[in-house]
Amino acid sequence: MNINSVLKPSLFIANADFSAKGRIYMKLKIFSGNANRPLFQKICQYLDLEPGLMTVEAFPDGESFCRIEEDVRGEDVFIVQPTCRPVNDTLMELLIMIESFKRASAGRITAVIPYFGYARQDRKDEGRVPITAKLVANLLTRAGADRILAMDLHAAQIQGFFDIPVDHLSASPILDAYINKLGYAAEECVVVSPDEGSIKRAAKHVKALGGSLAIIDKRRQGNVVEQANLIGGPIEGRIAFIFDDMISTGGSICGAAHLVKKMGVKKIYIAATHAVLCGNAIEQLQNAPVEEVVFSDTIPLLPDQQIPKIKILTISPILGEAIKRIHCQESISKMFKDLPFDTGQYF
Ligand code: R5P
Repeated sequence: MNINSVLKPSLFIANADFSAKGRIYMKLKIFSGNANRPLFQKICQYLDLEPGLMTVEAFPDGESFCRIEEDVRGEDVFIVQPTCRPVNDTLMELLIMIESFKRASAGRITAVIPYFGYARQDRKDEGRVPITAKLVANLLTRAGADRILAMDLHAAQIQGFFDIPVDHLSASPILDAYINKLGYAAEECVVVSPDEGSIKRAAKHVKALGGSLAIIDKRRQGNVVEQANLIGGPIEGRIAFIFDDMISTGGSICGAAHLVKKMGVKKIYIAATHAVLCGNAIEQLQNAPVEEVVFSDTIPLLPDQQIPKIKILTISPILGEAIKRIHCQESISKMFKDLPFDTGQYF
């Protein structure tokens, strides 16, 4: 049985969009590029939907190509594709898929982008540099996307780069539920923000987990990062949880771990939504004084990145539920107030 028959048929008719363009969204169909097939399969399982049929491959010269292998005329299409490594290929694949659905007369196209590459290039902080996150937003819109579904964007303001609706999700409920299950009492914990840019995120984790809040004063001088001071706390003798949106080279979060260890915390766990993991990140994580490194599955790990210290949690129920709600025109913020699934089932 699939979601189109499970959901009340009246819902589709009652909420059908008779917009100026005369579109009526009747059926939900979900497709994927090659960036993260395992996550796509899990989203399909959550929705109890068959994966849409589509060929996505590369020509011998490296050009991407795709062919939709079923009728999508007038349908509510969701394309799952994080723009993770190799970033330019996954992005180009996504653009080409959107273009194909547009030409195949899909009723509405939602690009589901669990990890939005180029997000860190979101401002012109020196002369003669691009704002590539804005360029990518323009490309997706011009290709034909009607909506974007994203998760833990590097900066929430990136939503404003799009002139189409963006639903911005968070992996926090799953990360927090896992941390909670470790069983530490709130008063033994401290949530650490690895830099001032992550204070808001850290404060939300404190709300969910309890404990105190500490912020690391991270300063960048050219390529040299200095993490010497800590504001807030107390941290001595506590269990530290350091959260970030992504771990790329591992420099920020491992630097933070070494600093709080030096300041006397008992144990450290680090958690991030996106396992960007490049350069010598794995080596840094291996050598960091941490118990466990927790990631969501927005980006698939490469085989040599699958080390015992790393724990992957799937965010497929969050994305699946959001897709269902967008299709049925139901609130997404309400979903975060009262999660309609058992988070523990996904550890
Ligand atoms: C910084 O603003 C971000 O939130 C991350 O802390 C940063 O991008 C991680 O990069 P890396 O792992 O290379 O330090």
